[in-house]
Amino acid sequence: MNKIKVAVIGYGHLGKWHCQKAESFSELAELKYIVEKFPANQELAKKNHPQVTVVDDIAKCIHDIDAGVVVTPTSFHYEIVDYLLKNNKHVFCEKPVTENTEQALMLKEVLKGRNLVLQVGHSERFHNAWEMKEQYKDFFKAPCHITLKRVAPFKGRATDVDVVQDLMIHDLDLLVFLFKETPISVDAVGYKMRTNKYDYMSANFKFESGHRATITVGRNQTKEVRELEISNTTGTLHIDLMKNEITEARGSFEGPEFTKTIPYEKRDHLMLEHKHFYESITYKKPAIVTLEDGITAVRLIDKVLESADKHREVTL
Ligand SMILES: NC(=O)c1ccc[n+]([C@@H]2O[C@H](COP(=O)([O-])OP(=O)(O)OC[C@H]3O[C@@H](n4cnc5c(N)ncnc54)[C@H](O)[C@@H]3O)[C@@H](O)[C@H]2O)c1
Repeated sequence: MNKIKVAVIGYGHLGKWHCQKAESFSELAELKYIVEKFPANQELAKKNHPQVTVVDDIAKCIHDIDAGVVVTPTSFHYEIVDYLLKNNKHVFCEKPVTENTEQALMLKEVLKGRNLVLQVGHSERFHNAWEMKEQYKDFFKAPCHITLKRVAPFKGRATDVDVVQDLMIHDLDLLVFLFKETPISVDAVGYKMRTNKYDYMSANFKFESGHRATITVGRNQTKEVRELEISNTTGTLHIDLMKNEITEARGSFEGPEFTKTIPYEKRDHLMLEHKHFYESITYKKPAIVTLEDGITAVRLIDKVLESADKHREVTL
């Protein structure tokens, strides 16, 4: 079986990890190229991956690869993914797939009729907790209220985009994935604190089924939190996405302990994403997070930003 010849495009903060994962799937794939614009990062890539050819432009290796892993800042995703698809290469693109819905829909047109895998890096899908959902399904019965929070002190990364594209995307994707329903409206408030983009955003969503959701994200906060809490008549379920712990407080629990906490398996999400990508290409399996999922998330991003800009609720 021929190995999939891979190029990782962007050797920055996350690109380093992508290269490491790509190299560890040596049965199915071979990391042949690293594409990096910035000279200091090129040097680092050469030092860390002496067997890999480092180039400064994707055009220099396009004819010698089968797949591209796109890990550049989001503002370059559209142009690079478009180029890869038009050259009939499989694509694994970090989240968000594009900066806006218009670009994502243009990629959909390019992908049409091509027998290619396009996987999007919505990595929060890979928490083991979601596979345990059956056990907690009563908490997800409508109507329920879900709160998702993802905040951290300023790290200076991803400032080419709003915090909505950077962090809220994970929660927007989880919302649709967990409820299997897209919201009907959003009412958001956002603040620019440290950059000329939104650094804080809190958005309330309504669903046809009666579900409600609140997502709060911030990249200039006092501490790091990544959590989900869901309440309905069953009680309250809390998932700590950093500690990998599930705590439930069911109305039916009797003392002396009114809450129950269990840990869940911590997984290497990036490793799982690479595994799915190479298996999808080799065994012709559908991508686990598809371009359609990417489009849904980007559409929600646009609506959150529209609501924050207009200072009013908008329908979807
Ligand atoms: N899934 C997740 O949880 C997660 C986490 C962090 C970042 N990301 C995503 O990964 C992407 C990269 O983030 P990062 O923090 O690594 O950014 P970064 O700025 O640290 O690295 C990006 C690298 O891409 C290089 N680059 C820019 N344009 C290029 C081009 N045209 N060709 C080749 N190289 C180019 C830059 O020089 C830089 O080295 C972003 O889209 C971000 O949203 C996802």
